Amino acid sequence: MIFISVNTPTKLGGVGSGSASDLAYVESAARHIAEVSTTDKIIVEKSTVPCGTAESLREIFAGLADPTVKFHILSNPEFLAEGTAINDLLEPDRILIGHLPEENAAADALVDVYSAWVPKDRIKTINLWSSELAKLAANCMLAQRISSINSLSAVCEATGADIDEVAFAVGLDTRIGSRMLKASAGFGGSCFKKDVLSLVYISETLHLPEVAEYWRSVVEINEYQKHRFTNRIIKRLYNTLSRKKIAVLGFAYKKNTGDTRETAAITVISQLIAEGAKVAIYDPQVSEQQIFNDLQSANPTLNIKDSITIYHDAVSACSDACAIAILTEWDQFKTDLIPEPEPQPELLNKAPVAQLRALTIDEGTISDHSSASSDAGSESPDYNGTHASPLSTPPSETALEGKPGSERVNWSRIAQVMRRPRLVFDGRNVVDAQRLASLGFRVECIGKAGARPHVRA
Ligand code: UGA
Repeated sequence: MIFISVNTPTKLGGVGSGSASDLAYVESAARHIAEVSTTDKIIVEKSTVPCGTAESLREIFAGLADPTVKFHILSNPEFLAEGTAINDLLEPDRILIGHLPEENAAADALVDVYSAWVPKDRIKTINLWSSELAKLAANCMLAQRISSINSLSAVCEATGADIDEVAFAVGLDTRIGSRMLKASAGFGGSCFKKDVLSLVYISETLHLPEVAEYWRSVVEINEYQKHRFTNRIIKRLYNTLSRKKIAVLGFAYKKNTGDTRETAAITVISQLIAEGAKVAIYDPQVSEQQIFNDLQSANPTLNIKDSITIYHDAVSACSDACAIAILTEWDQFKTDLIPEPEPQPELLNKAPVAQLRALTIDEGTISDHSSASSDAGSESPDYNGTHASPLSTPPSETALEGKPGSERVNWSRIAQVMRRPRLVFDGRNVVDAQRLASLGFRVECIGKAGARPHVRA
């Protein structure tokens, strides 16, 4: 039994360039297997491939292999996600095995492999073509949920609705469910965009332009969301970023990985640089070289080192910064160790939205805390002034840094070293705006009405 588990990136040239999946590695693996096989083989397609790829494999084996050797082809798509891969492997929701009716025995052999640790009722055998399409469909529908919630985040920001509450309320409908409904500055990773575009291409080649257009809009909303996030920063900084230092916390496409493929950070930072900003970047896991390479290839006409500096701690990155943009939901950036501020009735009366007890969704669990964007700072903007000092007595630094294994960035210290009005743009809704407000920050979250500059009565 041989598993083909190779990359199927988006094609960068030729027919289908920019949307079709590049099957060169799959083909080369199949050719090699065909050339060296002397006994019957079960070939398992693990890579994410367009519907119909098994048929192409069959042709390769028929054309190149020893005619006495039999090849059975199964589809067995991979559903693990980065950061949770081992758990996903050990406790999968489901195992899909796609096969042709005449290849029952081969499918049974693969069922036996998984039965060693996966309960039988989670191992599903289905039609070969359904299995290939189901993998693409799963990623496309997950990406579509994120684009849907992100589109609604724009409506929330314009109306005063809170996207975490909307996601919570909608997710309670068991037909919808609560997962993959976290609004963000845009999804990244090597799979979602590639797989949606692959489905777009398949639909186009099947002469289904409406279907292609529908799925393309999932990627378009994602691009829109990244630019919308950056535009909010630009607008809040008076439409000019020229020579202003912007700190970016997080570069990976999600937490618990150093992977940067298609990360929203590349788009956001490139736009900030185009506006003349000096960008200071901190990520706990992504290497300096990786960040330089990603941003240099996204901006080939610039010398990227003129516009970005990479730091090895968050406080240094934020020192002297006019604003902070959080682009990865690293636990380090959480504010849970900052004491919850006392309710301020006067402020609550002025801002009805802030009276709501917000319910935020964190990997399926609901935590109850006030999350409306806040405006605790009363200073006027001072981008060229001296470092700001916290408005209230900061909690002790050790308390904010936490115990080993639960390290948190020192927000109190950051409040001291960054410039007023200490703007934080949270592209992952990872911080508690009220707690940061108690340290003098003004927080703009995705899908929540923004902090307004203080207006004196
Ligand atoms: C995704 C799928 O989740 C896996 O099931 C699939 O096996 C994998 O692709 C694959 O095809 O190999 P992955 O890309 O590693 O996994 O990561 P996800 O957890 O799905 O996150 C993708 C992006 O969506 C990240 O940028 C994440 O921050 C973002 N996201 C995720 C949101 O913006 N909101 C959410 O609610 C969830």
